[in-house]
Amino acid sequence: KSEIERASELGTLPVEAEEMATFKVSRVQTSPIDGQKPGTSGLRKKVTVFKQPHYLHNFVQSTFDALSASKVKGATLVVSGDGRYFSKDAIQIIIQMSAANGVRRVWVGQNGLLSTPAVSCVIRERVGADGSKATGSFILTASHNPGGPHEDFGIKYNMENGGPAPEGVTDKIYANTKTIKEYLIAEDIPDVDISVLGVTTFRGPNGQFDVEVFDSATDYVKLMKSIFDFDAIRKLIASPKFSFCYDALHGVAGAYAKRIFVEELGADESYLLNCTPKEDFGGGHPDPNLTYAKELVARMGLGKEKPQNEPPEFGAAADGDADRNMVLGKRFFVTPSDSVAIIAANAVQSIPYFSSGLKGVARSMPTSAALDVVAQHLNLKFFEVPTGWKFFGNLMDAGLCSVCGEESFGTGSDHIREKDGIWAVLAWLSILAFKNKDNLSGGKLVTVEDIVTKHWATYGRHYYTRYDYENVDAGAAKELMSYLVKLQSSLPDVNKIIKGIRSDVSSVVKADEFEYKDPVDGSISKHQGIRYLFEDGSRLVFRLSGTGSEGATIRLYIEQYMKDPSKTGRDSQEALAPLVDVALKLSKMQAFTGRSAPTVIT
Ligand code: G6P
Ligand code: ZN
Repeated sequence: KSEIERASELGTLPVEAEEMATFKVSRVQTSPIDGQKPGTSGLRKKVTVFKQPHYLHNFVQSTFDALSASKVKGATLVVSGDGRYFSKDAIQIIIQMSAANGVRRVWVGQNGLLSTPAVSCVIRERVGADGSKATGSFILTASHNPGGPHEDFGIKYNMENGGPAPEGVTDKIYANTKTIKEYLIAEDIPDVDISVLGVTTFRGPNGQFDVEVFDSATDYVKLMKSIFDFDAIRKLIASPKFSFCYDALHGVAGAYAKRIFVEELGADESYLLNCTPKEDFGGGHPDPNLTYAKELVARMGLGKEKPQNEPPEFGAAADGDADRNMVLGKRFFVTPSDSVAIIAANAVQSIPYFSSGLKGVARSMPTSAALDVVAQHLNLKFFEVPTGWKFFGNLMDAGLCSVCGEESFGTGSDHIREKDGIWAVLAWLSILAFKNKDNLSGGKLVTVEDIVTKHWATYGRHYYTRYDYENVDAGAAKELMSYLVKLQSSLPDVNKIIKGIRSDVSSVVKADEFEYKDPVDGSISKHQGIRYLFEDGSRLVFRLSGTGSEGATIRLYIEQYMKDPSKTGRDSQEALAPLVDVALKLSKMQAFTGRSAPTVIT
């Protein structure tokens, strides 16, 4: 019996079912399209590429075909994203293809908006009116890349645990894109109005199909309230000593910022900057760093010009899909590597979710070793994984990791299986609230800068900077990387070159390409970045970005550890100048790339 017949006997058939629109399934002939290999976080290409006939369709069908049948037939899928240009068209196409492939229902965040962390939360936590649970999601985002008709679009698939599809699945998707011959689509399903909450029901050859538009924030807000002490944060925000500015860079974080910071935590609306989600992110580059979050940086007193008003005590920004975060104090930048270390060091006291202790902590390889030092002090399990959030997910599913972070402005915990920009801000607000719990009526506010400098005094400081060379010729980038690998075969030669550049830099004691064996599933990931490790703990790391959509981006990560508390207060670019010099000359950066300076320094 079909689900409809059963529902009709039980009397649970929705009223609209009587006049349900029906659809047929068409099989459309297609052929493989080159270049549909998902990167670190899904398939990212220019909108013009995605708009080619069959382009999105091929990828979506290849994804359905890569999943086990039970994750498609009769399944509940989430489809939403950061609201960038082309999302609305893509959502309607995915709805039609889901129906045709036998999916039972599609959940869409209102206006197609769901932050990446909210998708993870919805997959894990949301229960439909009839008890249904989602088993996966198409997330429509190109994260921190610009949006608009001539900018980027992206799509990735997340699994039942709320995390990105593992390589086994993305490899299968890619293989399918190379052999695809047809896709299934229900073209007579009309566009569903995704601006209105509610369920629209259709009847197809295999039974009922529903599209439910639900509130984008409710499930996520509920989860945040179960993790943090909102009362404590509310008191901090209410204090006249405290002020705050949150910049969503016109990304999807805006859909959550108002609900959480203003409605739940009582912040003034004027604290919100660029919090209206826009299809083109207001023409900006929605990446929360010192270069692209210009307005916030200026307000916080970190721009070239002195701000008109006294900067707020705390500032934060998010990227397009709200999984990244940048944390700032008044005239003070917190490196993402320090941020995760400080959150880990303070989590147990400040955040109720962690009150019984941390299961372990983890960072990506290029992230500074600040977290390692905290893990040693607190005797915590520690993991160093390749770049990419999926590696943390495995550790979390196995109960090995509570808090993790990356230098690429990602911080998060095992409450979901994605990094979480707003969670990171709430974590910092919790630490500030805890440190100031006795100061709010009298006494001086403990600031972000106070917290960070005290951390350095306790654990030492990891001076850290990243140089990005964006959109470099892909061939040239490859050559530079092979040159660096070749160089690693003789450490004496490496050290001779280094001493010729700067005699005040310590010697390289180990050089390799980072390789990772996943302690949970035993899988091995090779070629995860070229490392030069120095005797004094300094590191140079070279990697090619896995998230670009054009050319190649070379990332150079430079780090130096300083334990002496009298030497932790220097400007980081100044402190790192000798190592930077060595890195650029050792790699022949200018000769290979033709670039005399990086595109972005963070
Ligand atoms: C995405 C992933 C992160 C990763 C980052 C690296 O944001 O979710 O886990 O750190 O990409 O980007 P890259 O451009 O350096 O490959
Ligand atoms: Zn992102």
